[in-house]
Amino acid sequence: MSQTLSAVKGMNDLLPGEIEIWQHVEGLARELFGRFGYGEIRTPMLEDTALFVRSVGEETDIVGKEMYTFTDKNDRSLSLRPEGTAPAARAYIEHSIVNKEPLTRWFYTGPMFRYERMKTGRYRQFYQIGAEAYGSKEAAQDVEVMDMVAQFLQKLGLQDITLNLNSLGDETCRPAYHAKLVEYLQAHREELCSDCHRRMEKNPLRVLDCKNPTCQAVAAKGPNVLEFLCEPCRAHFDDVQRKLTALDIKFVVNPRMVRGLDYYTRTVFEFIASHPALGTASTVGAGGRYDKLVKSLGGPDVPAVGFACGLDRLVLLLKESQQKFGATPDLFIAVADAGSHDAAFTLASRLRREGLRVDFDTRGGSLKSQMKRSDKSGARFTLVLGELERTSGQAKLKPMAGGEPIPVALDDIARTVRAHSAAPRADAPSAS
Ligand code: HAM
Repeated sequence: MSQTLSAVKGMNDLLPGEIEIWQHVEGLARELFGRFGYGEIRTPMLEDTALFVRSVGEETDIVGKEMYTFTDKNDRSLSLRPEGTAPAARAYIEHSIVNKEPLTRWFYTGPMFRYERMKTGRYRQFYQIGAEAYGSKEAAQDVEVMDMVAQFLQKLGLQDITLNLNSLGDETCRPAYHAKLVEYLQAHREELCSDCHRRMEKNPLRVLDCKNPTCQAVAAKGPNVLEFLCEPCRAHFDDVQRKLTALDIKFVVNPRMVRGLDYYTRTVFEFIASHPALGTASTVGAGGRYDKLVKSLGGPDVPAVGFACGLDRLVLLLKESQQKFGATPDLFIAVADAGSHDAAFTLASRLRREGLRVDFDTRGGSLKSQMKRSDKSGARFTLVLGELERTSGQAKLKPMAGGEPIPVALDDIARTVRAHSAAPRADAPSAS
């Protein structure tokens, strides 16, 4: 017997039963993000490795340890995208979007790839839904983005989520903070891991998101970035907080939060859920401002801000809720005798064309087994088709939730089903 193959570790199949939750989340995001004026983009899953090295940063765990990188047949180094901000910025530059509009709002959804240590809520192929806004340096743009995430999570019915907020300053004030941080880290050199010794030289901010507990303890007592903000960065951060408050979006300022990607300037934020289903993989969405990224990738000097939510984590939370997802059939057509099979098959096709969701067992089988299947499918009605119904042109719609059968002419089924479908079936999953 040949050996069975399984999916690659950390990469999951999404099957009916669960996919309805994904579709619900994506549908809701599309509708909401559209309301905010964000248009959808789709970029390739593969990019030049250099794109991520230059944007996310060489010293980050994402680029340094977690990328799926390979050389193609033409000897180019390509990587499966670990995130969506850099590809979006590449596309923004490549299509000269700045010449077409001064303010651009994009969103995207799709799989991302990181070779991470796996656990609940952390996978090697995971899905993000994210948005990026280019062209505005105003605090209002940062807050619009956070408002969109907050409304999204609220519409999903998710509670107990805290917005953590920080500012990392800009090229004017960050050098002074860096210098102080390096001085502090030097004083604690002995306590830091060897990776952090290297980070200290190359990119000291990355020491702050080292996963080693000893390094974390050192980082926790380091200098406070907010004390180093220059006047314009301080004013921007104050404005962000004022506007969040005006929108009644609760937040906590967390000066230790630096995010694990290099491109951020000024505002950074994380939406953190406290539900045990996520364990420590509790950040459901995160983002920030990156005013220098587009220019550093060879594009125009355009400020930008964005976020990405982890769909896998949102779905895990929704699975814990009591909500029902997905649509069930309007009608199950059962066949009373083998001679009626073709007529039932044709009827099912016609009713689907007329817009009904129809389930029909192509294998035929006993009426009892078909009725069992109908019940399991959550169909609202069952119609049994036999010789009597075929010759009379009349049948009965049996309401599966109970109640009297409804007489119906075979050529009037779709209208009758719709007319009796106003109230949802109490015992069946329903579209929500
Ligand atoms: P990030 O924090 O690396 O930011 O990822 C954003 C979200 O993706 C996380 O908060 C988490 O929900 C989800 N996520 C990340 N890694 C995994 C994983 N291995 N398994 C499951 N979910 C995961 C970014 O990617 C930035 N591009 C966000 C951004 C957009 N900043 C500005 N614009």
